[in-house]
Amino acid sequence: LEKWVLMVTARTPTNIAVIKYWGKRDETLILPINDSISVTLDPSHLCTTTTVSVSPTFDHDRMWLNGKEISLQGGRFQSCLREIRARAQDVEDKKKGIKIKKEDWQKLHLHIASYNNFPTAAGLASSAAGLACLVFSLAKLMNLKEDNSQLSAIARQGSGSACRSLYGGFVKWDMGKEDNGSDSLAVQLADEKHWDELVIIIAVVSARQKETSSTSGMRDTVVTSALIEHRAKEVVPKRIVQMEDAIQKRDFPSFARLAYRDSNQFHAVCLDTYPPIFYMNDTSHRIISCVEKWNRAEETPQVAYTFDAGPNAVMIARDRKTAALLLQRLLYNFPPQSDTDLDSYIIGDKSILQ
Ligand code: PMV
Repeated sequence: LEKWVLMVTARTPTNIAVIKYWGKRDETLILPINDSISVTLDPSHLCTTTTVSVSPTFDHDRMWLNGKEISLQGGRFQSCLREIRARAQDVEDKKKGIKIKKEDWQKLHLHIASYNNFPTAAGLASSAAGLACLVFSLAKLMNLKEDNSQLSAIARQGSGSACRSLYGGFVKWDMGKEDNGSDSLAVQLADEKHWDELVIIIAVVSARQKETSSTSGMRDTVVTSALIEHRAKEVVPKRIVQMEDAIQKRDFPSFARLAYRDSNQFHAVCLDTYPPIFYMNDTSHRIISCVEKWNRAEETPQVAYTFDAGPNAVMIARDRKTAALLLQRLLYNFPPQSDTDLDSYIIGDKSILQ
């Protein structure tokens, strides 16, 4: 047996939806019932780092998440691996004297090691960063010719929201029209420099794993909620147009109003699901009240908030000065418990407190 190893390491940030994806029209291909828009975070805070390696000495595909081996047997991992292997190209590393022909990728096995620098499965979109990073690093290892938008359609099959993490800045996931999902992919609306005054602060209300996974939650919502169809057909399409416009114009009041009203409607749809799903808790509700009061007192919104499938608050401040005030208010009203330090309680740029 030859004894070489070839590896690639990639780092991918997570993304937070400001117009939410909730509900699938095809569960296997992961095709959504509405478009969504997200902002990709700065890679220094919430990200996944993945190293993928290939060697003739590996006898089966294996994966480790945060140092613990996990099964790759799930349909979603298998879809991503199959789609990537089908597009693999010849690879040559002259220095190491390695030559892999594209057909060899079907026989060669992979080792994948992935680390999240933030709580996994706590409603902080860990699967978005994870699957995007997996697809991107494998695409580099196997020398795929596809661009990021085409790769996003593969990442989508691992976890829907993952398709939006293939780009930085503001990203739209176009739900697409085709039954085979070929046009259900991510497009970049604006890059990370477009609106760099915004500061994102995440208050980790609970790092516990969520009780209802987004997969089973969405399934129950689509089957039982009377509101979801109205949301997907009547509300979201209008908000998508308005949100794209607010982003292009850097219109913070419109951006904030759309983001928090969409988050609130997503949680209303969860409550309308039977049995009801509660992702937010009392602390989440208190944070909403606090931000709402502040925005009302200022007449125009200073801070947007949004919550995914968990109780943790994602807040977007209009600039650094507002972000510093927001941090002070959060620390005053919601002091971190003695056993959690500031770093795990508030994720973001704490230097603005100085
Ligand atoms: O991609 P999933 O299955 O992790 O679902 C993500 C759903 C939300 O985070 C609640 C909304 C979104 O658009 O990211």
